Amino acid sequence: MTAAPATPDLPATRPAGCPFDPPAEYATRRESAPTAKVRCPAGMEAFLVTRYADVRAVLADRTMSSRGASSVHVNPNADPDEEISPGSIIQLDGAAHARLRKKVIAEFTVRRVAALRGYVRQLVDSHLDAMLAHGSPADLVQHFALPIPSLVICELLGVPYADRERFQRQSATMVSTDATREEGEQAYHELSGYLAGLFTEKQRNPQDDLFSRLSSAGADDPLTMEELVVLGLSLLVAGHETTANMIALSTVVLLEHPGAREAVLAEPERAVEELLRYLSVVQWGVLRYATEDVQVGSRPVRAGEWLVAALNSANRDESVFAGADKLDFERESPRTHVAFGFGAHQCVGQQLARVELQEALTGLFRRVPDLRVAVPREELEYKHNTLVYGLRELPVAWG
Ligand code: HEM
Repeated sequence: MTAAPATPDLPATRPAGCPFDPPAEYATRRESAPTAKVRCPAGMEAFLVTRYADVRAVLADRTMSSRGASSVHVNPNADPDEEISPGSIIQLDGAAHARLRKKVIAEFTVRRVAALRGYVRQLVDSHLDAMLAHGSPADLVQHFALPIPSLVICELLGVPYADRERFQRQSATMVSTDATREEGEQAYHELSGYLAGLFTEKQRNPQDDLFSRLSSAGADDPLTMEELVVLGLSLLVAGHETTANMIALSTVVLLEHPGAREAVLAEPERAVEELLRYLSVVQWGVLRYATEDVQVGSRPVRAGEWLVAALNSANRDESVFAGADKLDFERESPRTHVAFGFGAHQCVGQQLARVELQEALTGLFRRVPDLRVAVPREELEYKHNTLVYGLRELPVAWG
């Protein structure tokens, strides 16, 4: 008797020499095994959902729980049965999620995000001034890509200017893959303590910011301190790494593709949308838990089973994106991608992320038109094992 074949691992290896393409196995799976079991780095088995239509169906299905979201499956230290904190928007389901989301989404309206554009532009300019003053070559990740999203979140939450440098340092350590576990935990505790203090201060002296509005005793159904601290940390985790890595990776992609710089300067909205699809930085997809028996495509899934919605695979599905492996700024419907997820948990910060990317990339290429990568391409170090794909550093030169 032959033993049953072992469950294959979640695909992890990108094709040699193609750092922007997802593992080649996704294409094979979309063709012949679109929803099939894999073993995740955290040890559990899950159905890997690879086709665009199935990914959207899973993410739109209200019977799917987000309790393991976005990525318990790739964190060997995470406990999928851990109790969920009431402010952890990304993991809540049903009414508890809807209550929190309604409050948060009001902070990301078109008007509020448009009002933040000026601040983002100012940040882009001042960081480019500092990078140019530092001189060529410089690390674009440290000088530009990392600090901007963190300072935007400071502005959103209402962190006073005097505290921003410390906040930024701690948040960089908290999300850093180079920090030790102890350093990461210490930064997490310091930031939680800091946000709790900010909560108290905003209750006493409310201002025009998210923390003041959501903690205000006068607000309808105000959030508790615990909810608001965890929500603040969730915004930081969800909005910092993702946007920072998108800025650095997009820069390399734009430098590598002839005519791409001009395209981003001419039509930043369209170009950013295609970069989001092409790069799909949430590289391990998002995790869901079936609370009822369902059908995904032709595959039955039982209550109690896990599913990974592979966003990067869906965004390369040829049935939706012709020539999906090509960067193409002329796509007819550039916003059909699922880089921001889909359904009830679709990214609340997406408009803000778009503004940050548009401002960062146009500012960079306008001010430094002769920007180039300062080392041979094969020396660039990509983050293959982290939740969000990116670059450890990006040495750039000019002049
Ligand atoms: C390019 C940048 C970004 C990308 C690629 C991205 C991607 C995503 C994805 C894929 C999800 C869905 C997770 C799931 O379904 O489990 C998500 C949710 C979320 N994102 Fe973003 N995000 C970005 C920027 C931001 C920013 C700037 C913020 C806020 C400052 C933010 C805040 C959130 C929050 C709070 C959620 C959870 C929403 C909910 O559960 O209802 N994100 N993001």
